[in-house]
Amino acid sequence: MPPIRTQVAIIGGGPSGLLLSQLLNRAGVETVILERASRAHVLARVRAGILEWGSVELLRQAGVGDRMAAQGIPHEGCYLADEDLVIRMDFQALTGRRVMVYGQTEVTADLYAAQDAAGTTILHQVSDVAITDLDQPRSRVSFSQAGARRELICHYVVGCDGFHGVSRQTIPAEIRREVARTYPFGWLGLLSETPPVQEELIYSSSRHGFALASMRNPALSRYYVQVPLTDRVEDWPDHRFWDALARRLPAEAAARLITGPGIEKSIAPLRSFVSEPLRWGNLFLVGDAAHIVPPTGAKGLNLAISDVFYLHSALIDAVQGRGTAGIDEYSDRALARIWKAMRFSWQMTTMLHRFDDEDAFAARMRRAALAHLAQSETARRELAENYIGLPF
Ligand code: APR
Ligand code: PHB
Repeated sequence: MPPIRTQVAIIGGGPSGLLLSQLLNRAGVETVILERASRAHVLARVRAGILEWGSVELLRQAGVGDRMAAQGIPHEGCYLADEDLVIRMDFQALTGRRVMVYGQTEVTADLYAAQDAAGTTILHQVSDVAITDLDQPRSRVSFSQAGARRELICHYVVGCDGFHGVSRQTIPAEIRREVARTYPFGWLGLLSETPPVQEELIYSSSRHGFALASMRNPALSRYYVQVPLTDRVEDWPDHRFWDALARRLPAEAAARLITGPGIEKSIAPLRSFVSEPLRWGNLFLVGDAAHIVPPTGAKGLNLAISDVFYLHSALIDAVQGRGTAGIDEYSDRALARIWKAMRFSWQMTTMLHRFDDEDAFAARMRRAALAHLAQSETARRELAENYIGLPF
């Protein structure tokens, strides 16, 4: 088969790859997306559900805002709790901004629909992706699909292939600086067709460990409990999950908890990870391919979206002959925001989780941080400013 020619090859059809492609296509830049999994598989993954307003605005600008406007739920605040100390974080009063509850799965479905309407080539179930010639005017991406070896020839390659993808590994080890922290626990998540325990999210610290009460809509709840990394989903039948959640939520919320069968249950480890720089020759990294945050501040998807924000206009300029200043600055601009979100996610994680090896002092510091938030509007504003999203 002859090679496929395009302007920008995108590896990975998750939210990063799809949103970048959609924004490039709308500006007249051609893309091809290579995705390892089937579309059904990508759309079945349950991921996070909070969008910063900057993310909402970029999705609107990409032409995928309609269903989000109809079905998303703007939230003006959330709750932080420590046993029975309950702190309302009033984002609207503290920052003048809100966030949007709208699942990543829905964002991804909307982007696939928009890309189909635009007629973009999205090749699914590709394997053995190899990226070469990144120092040449035209780079190459070879891959296998349905038993045949194929090739893409392009100006730029963008790695949107998540933490386990090939793009980051294409950058020589001596160029990459990887900075990481792992946490000694994971989150067990459960989705259930029950009304949420509270109309806003509750991030709850307790002596039994952390829990989060979140939601997708008024009839669909998403709950999480902190678990040891050695636990498996099979160790957690529904009744054990609900008991653990009720013990960890503030008593007045636990009393209102409505339980039901779990329709999805999974465990995710918590880690902080950044690989720098985000560019090597004509290859750029975006989203989880370059960085991972623990989910405690809801920053994962939002950081991927801010990477796309910086890169899309830079690539449009480069491809359309308006200069390379944007792509030259991409890595530094994106990393400046990434590190601040790294700090926030680490701070939220450290403040709210019980660490098995923590001493009495560390436990007291966590409680004092929450007590300070309860008392100080300045402290709440600082947290809210990060939660609703730093400016792009
Ligand atoms: N070749 C092609 N596709 C690949 C390869 C590969 N070698 N490896 C992985 N992929 C695909 C995955 O199947 C997946 O669909 O790349 C996609 C990456 O998607 P995500 O992991 O969702 O990453 P991203 O698009 O950057 O989304 C941002 O931030 O914190 C998270 O929950 C948030 O998943 C969201 C992410
Ligand atoms: C979710 O609803 O899945 C969710 C919400 C907030 C977080 C993490 C996950 O911080």
